[in-house]
Amino acid sequence: MGDQQAMLFIDTDPGVDDALAIMMAHEFGKVVGLGIAAGNVGLAHTTANALKLLDVIGSDAPVFRGAPHPFVRPALGAPHVHGADGFGDTGYLPSSRSAEAEHASLALLRLSHMHSGALTIVALGPLTNLALALSLDPALPTRIRRLVVMGGAVTGQGNTSASAEFNVGFDPEAAHVVYSRWGEFQLIDWELCMRHALPADRLESWLAHDGARPAFFAAISRKIRAFSRNQGRTGLVLADALAMAVALHPELVLASRCRSIGVELDGFLTRGATVVDWNGRGGQSPNALIVDAIDQQGFERMVAESLGLAEG
Ligand code: BDR
Ligand code: CA
Repeated sequence: MGDQQAMLFIDTDPGVDDALAIMMAHEFGKVVGLGIAAGNVGLAHTTANALKLLDVIGSDAPVFRGAPHPFVRPALGAPHVHGADGFGDTGYLPSSRSAEAEHASLALLRLSHMHSGALTIVALGPLTNLALALSLDPALPTRIRRLVVMGGAVTGQGNTSASAEFNVGFDPEAAHVVYSRWGEFQLIDWELCMRHALPADRLESWLAHDGARPAFFAAISRKIRAFSRNQGRTGLVLADALAMAVALHPELVLASRCRSIGVELDGFLTRGATVVDWNGRGGQSPNALIVDAIDQQGFERMVAESLGLAEG
């Protein structure tokens, strides 16, 4: 069944796995807008990538540019993973469409009034835009149906430093604002994404199919697939796609735990680490519904359908 026709605002930094997530959102939900963050690569590229992807899938969803930098300290992107342009350096012809003039955080506030109580926010990049919106209007969460965040390494096995996951490590102060002020949200963390990688041979066979979507995704993911093989992984970790699957089909979640989480801002070794109070030592109310397991087959079926493959 799923969260039928979930109405989505996607905050994102495309990014190859963001791209797949955005395809899934259009296949299974209704997208009212995309807020763009700097993250995997700079804001000019992430914005251009979003516009190009929407052309490929035939969507005219509005694209709102957001913050060009993290709140406090400069941060490195992930061009070694996603390519210097964030989309595998394919040299694609840019979209003729432009981003809207309105800032992503202001657009989110406006849309949250327009669709009060109906919007699901899916945060797939650094949380800068969302933290800005929340700072401008602390009542934002009262108008939002659900917040699903891809971020954090809840057992301390980071992918950008020893203990930080990329989206949180890129802008820890923004994550702190969201973690501490939002209320309850659903968290798709990095270690969960590692456990639910998509087997490489299956993905390769899907990408060999005819069609604009498999062809485009095959091209933009070529570098990240090579990166993944070089890491010795047998499956491609598609973190943002997994988060989108949960946003669209919450019943795919097989197990989760509600815990209080925070972010380390000062640690020399641990800046950007998501710290989970697993045993309730601090006495804080839980703020995160941490997803522990997902129906892998259901997830893969959604990916296949989003690529235009009926049966997967
Ligand atoms: C997250 O970092 C980015 O590189 C991906 O797009 C995903 O949002 C995974 O840690
Ligand atoms: Ca992302």
